[in-house]
Amino acid sequence: MMQTVDPKGFKIPIVGLGTWSLRNVARMVEQAIRIGYRHIDTAQMYGNEKEVGEGVRASGKRAEVLVTTKVQPTNLAPHDLERSVKESLAHLRFDVIDLLLIHWPNPRVPLAETLGAMLKMKKAGYVRAIGVSNFTVALLDETAKITTEAVCNQIECHPFLNQDKVIAACKKHGMAVVAYSPVARGSVPGNETLERIGKAHGKSAAQISLRYLVQQGIVVIPRTNKLERLEENFALFDFALSDAEMQEIHRLSGSKGRLVDWSWSPNWD
Ligand SMILES: NC(=O)c1ccc[n+]([C@@H]2O[C@H](COP(=O)([O-])OP(=O)(O)OC[C@H]3O[C@@H](n4cnc5c(N)ncnc54)[C@H](OP(=O)(O)O)[C@@H]3O)[C@@H](O)[C@H]2O)c1
Repeated sequence: MMQTVDPKGFKIPIVGLGTWSLRNVARMVEQAIRIGYRHIDTAQMYGNEKEVGEGVRASGKRAEVLVTTKVQPTNLAPHDLERSVKESLAHLRFDVIDLLLIHWPNPRVPLAETLGAMLKMKKAGYVRAIGVSNFTVALLDETAKITTEAVCNQIECHPFLNQDKVIAACKKHGMAVVAYSPVARGSVPGNETLERIGKAHGKSAAQISLRYLVQQGIVVIPRTNKLERLEENFALFDFALSDAEMQEIHRLSGSKGRLVDWSWSPNWD
């Protein structure tokens, strides 16, 4: 059985497949589900919802798989959001979106309006659960004042970036943390600490990075174009890191470890 986190009673499988810039999307999604993945992450902005839907359907396991998609920041006004959700459903060819996220905050659209529209879509049965992505502590506090229904915040999270404050805010509001770029976009192999700890457990540096996150109850959505790495990134539950190892990995993190550039985010047209 795949481990899950259960924010507000909504089950999220703790390992998922990221699909941003993935090639052969339908094939990789189908293969991941064969291996045991039960969580697939896509977004309107990735332009691959159609292929994600195809892969999920080809697996024959639609009912067991949680699919997340995200509304792009230019579609956060209520009318645009409603249209956008219906477009995502048409691309995916699903009856319902399992988890719908605000992809990036857009300061030009009042958050209460966007969340209101998302709740309306949930109530109407288009969406099973709602959440946010790239939200700061202040935005999470604002979200909590508007609704208690948001189940997660998807953020950049890996051993090289210190996200303690935003993780604490998610916990305070009962929201799961979903880690994007959880193997730091492929830069964990070669790190001396992760390689050494990996060697002690017979695991790769990437597996140590992922285990470090899941052992904290953080959901991970690594992306790979390689079939053998689909298996590798899923094999995280036959070992555990000691407290000393967890602390040593935590010491790798800093405020300068960010890989995804936020500077463009407030400039949506
Ligand atoms: N909400 C947001 O704003 C946001 C932003 C960024 C990403 N995301 C989501 O999060 C997912 C994951 O993040 P990401 O794609 O940025 O980064 P990532 O998963 O940390 O890294 C992907 C890169 O790491 C390599 N890799 C994967 N597994 C590996 C392993 N076991 N050993 C060594 N290298 C490995 C992959 O290369 P190969 O293909 O060669 O294996 C690929 O180049 C995305 O695909 C997307 O779904 C969301």
